[in-house]
Amino acid sequence: MKNTFIATLFIITLISCNSQEEKIALDRYRPRFHYTPEKNWVNDPNGLVFHEGEYHLFYQYNPVGTTWGHMSWGHAVSKDLINWQQLPVAIEEYLDPITGDSTMIFSGTAFVDKNNTSGLCAGKDCMIAIYTSHVHKDNQGLKQHQSLAYSNDNGRTWKRYGKNPILDIDRKDFRDPKVFWYEPQQKWVMALVIPDLFKVQLYESKNLLNWSLLSEFGDVGDTLRIWECPDLYELSINGNPNHSKWVLSLSGSHPAGPDFVGMQYFVGDFDGTHFKSDQKNPLYLEFGKDFYAGIVFNNLPNRTVMMGWVNNWTYANQLPTNGWRGAFSFPRELTLAETEAGLRLSQKPIDELITLRGEKIEDLKNLVSQSFELEVELHEGGNISLFGSEDEATIIGFENGKLFLDRSKSGNVAFNKDFASIESVNVLPRKENIGIRLLVDQSIIEIFSIDGLYTITDQVFPTRQKTKVSLNGKATLINGWLLKSQ
Ligand code: FRU
Repeated sequence: MKNTFIATLFIITLISCNSQEEKIALDRYRPRFHYTPEKNWVNDPNGLVFHEGEYHLFYQYNPVGTTWGHMSWGHAVSKDLINWQQLPVAIEEYLDPITGDSTMIFSGTAFVDKNNTSGLCAGKDCMIAIYTSHVHKDNQGLKQHQSLAYSNDNGRTWKRYGKNPILDIDRKDFRDPKVFWYEPQQKWVMALVIPDLFKVQLYESKNLLNWSLLSEFGDVGDTLRIWECPDLYELSINGNPNHSKWVLSLSGSHPAGPDFVGMQYFVGDFDGTHFKSDQKNPLYLEFGKDFYAGIVFNNLPNRTVMMGWVNNWTYANQLPTNGWRGAFSFPRELTLAETEAGLRLSQKPIDELITLRGEKIEDLKNLVSQSFELEVELHEGGNISLFGSEDEATIIGFENGKLFLDRSKSGNVAFNKDFASIESVNVLPRKENIGIRLLVDQSIIEIFSIDGLYTITDQVFPTRQKTKVSLNGKATLINGWLLKSQ
């Protein structure tokens, strides 16, 4: 009897251990310090806004599934841009009681109506969201217009405005409004796209409810794929707050071609009516495959911080993750840098990253964690290998003047025929070596050149449990830290 009992206990323990191990194995790709909701599908960050000591991250979210659909605004808040708390869905897809059509809540913006210009605030200010209302039947898009919702309790609950839509030009594709306060003319400005015409439209409003067209910008830069998610913001040059230019960034085609999505930007001037770009040729914000729909925070004093969706539409719906799908980039601070080629975006992880640092990494041989930060100097021909095992590795190197990330043998690449790729960017003017900062988080790799001019963000899905990090050729470890979970 006793023996039977012990044997049963042993079997139960074995089963539960196995399922525990399996659970860990299945969730091994879940990032530890990049935000992803507990379950289900996400895409674009929406309505990034700082209000009353809280950072709000709203995002495209499917509350009921792990693939794109039923788009609603998910919500998370943070006090430090590092530790996020998931909150209930903020604005949900709804059915029109008259037509029976469903309206999804597509991408948009959130901000603080500081002086109650809308008249919708219960007190002196409130949070407002302006989003694209995407009307469809059986997933066939019928119409897109812009709608408004407001919250009088710091984004916890939202009411849709009774007289939506607030902007409608009778088009099937017209979306992704970014709204900000333009101080010099005491007015609201909205930038949004007509995707298939490669056009950004700018509108103005005094009360957020009535909008009039200011100007159009478009048909320049990279027009190989539809334009989405525009943003317009002023950035200081070389850290000098008295010296600035405007940047218009948007999502569209990838520098490697239109089989993938990516982000480009224009540097220029904005006078409250027109945005005039200094350049016609495309400049790209990212050279990896997994940074899309990036927008910057509203209402953030003293710095400009962007978050993007770590994914690519080409394979987003097939990622081999379990119960969740998609994550957000680590927040990055943007500035402009004067270079020989002209003004260029410079990006770095926000300084708060240091609060995540744990034990210092002295020797890569002993590194077993998959969430860490490294600073590495790569000389021509040198590389660092991540997630290495007998036949798998992700290689980040510097060769023929190019910084590259090769994920063609990174592990599970078969879930989509286009996933196995090599990302690369020409580093100009040509150099003998480049310093890079690497953020590695289970299945997400973000590379920042030390000067901030080049970034590569990619996902990888190694299949082996015990993987190694190693330096090859002329490559030196400058610094390294284990990074804690958020
Ligand atoms: C960009 C995008 C947006 C749209 C949203 C829908 O990834 O296509 O243009 O608003 O996703 O989820």
